[in-house]
Amino acid sequence: MPIQLLVNIDHIATLRNARGEGYPVPAQAAQICEKSGAAGIVFHLRGDRRHIMDQDLPELKEAVHGILDFEMAATEEMIELLHKVQPDICTLVPEGREELTTEGGLHLSAVFKDFKTRIFPAIRNGAGGSKVEISLFVDPNPDDIERAIELGSDAIELHTGTYANASTPSVAQEELTRLAAAAKIAHSAGLKVNAGHGLNQKNLPPFLRAVPHLADISIGHALISESVFHGLANTVHAYMSIIEQVKKEQS
Ligand code: PXP
Repeated sequence: MPIQLLVNIDHIATLRNARGEGYPVPAQAAQICEKSGAAGIVFHLRGDRRHIMDQDLPELKEAVHGILDFEMAATEEMIELLHKVQPDICTLVPEGREELTTEGGLHLSAVFKDFKTRIFPAIRNGAGGSKVEISLFVDPNPDDIERAIELGSDAIELHTGTYANASTPSVAQEELTRLAAAAKIAHSAGLKVNAGHGLNQKNLPPFLRAVPHLADISIGHALISESVFHGLANTVHAYMSIIEQVKKEQS
């Protein structure tokens, strides 16, 4: 499974919603990202609809020709929408109303029974559910990886926020070691290893070099922010070059 870039376009919607206008349009941004080499698009429909809104879903479904990753909380409302959209990936995340962004991985010990008996069957049994890849957003701790395996998840998405926000190089290095160990456990059990949160052009190369078995890398806030100055196509190209460079080193 090669490393590939999925662009999270939530903050195109944040900009639109700031003035209650109809622009910029997330689906249009998605098209530019794909044309510029991104393998797909991620959107997070939050319960409070603070960025992506319901009206965006059919537009994104139509615009995206590569991988479409629907990031969502494990609620009945979201599962119903998931079955309407039928994306390629369903990434389950914890969601708190007060948080600025997703603040950590799922605590799988707390939700294990509910995921096993209710959430996974509800996702799998609805329209398109048998084809959707379920990915669980988790911190890189072995217990949560083992629980994801036991749940029969197709993938994990490693939470890279602690690495990205590390206050010193040695804390960053420790976190890279944890991420690499978590990736090995998941990969050896046959799970796909996705990753994301807080990644940018500076912290991405050491991350890609340190962590094995990576597949989909989800990047949003930094990429969309940089695109204000450099253009969306140029910025996606810059991230693609980083990924291509690391792939070349590893081949
Ligand atoms: N992955 C998950 C599960 C997320 O919640 C987010 C943020 O929406 C991202 C990746 C992307 O993070 P960032 O916007 O910091 O690049």
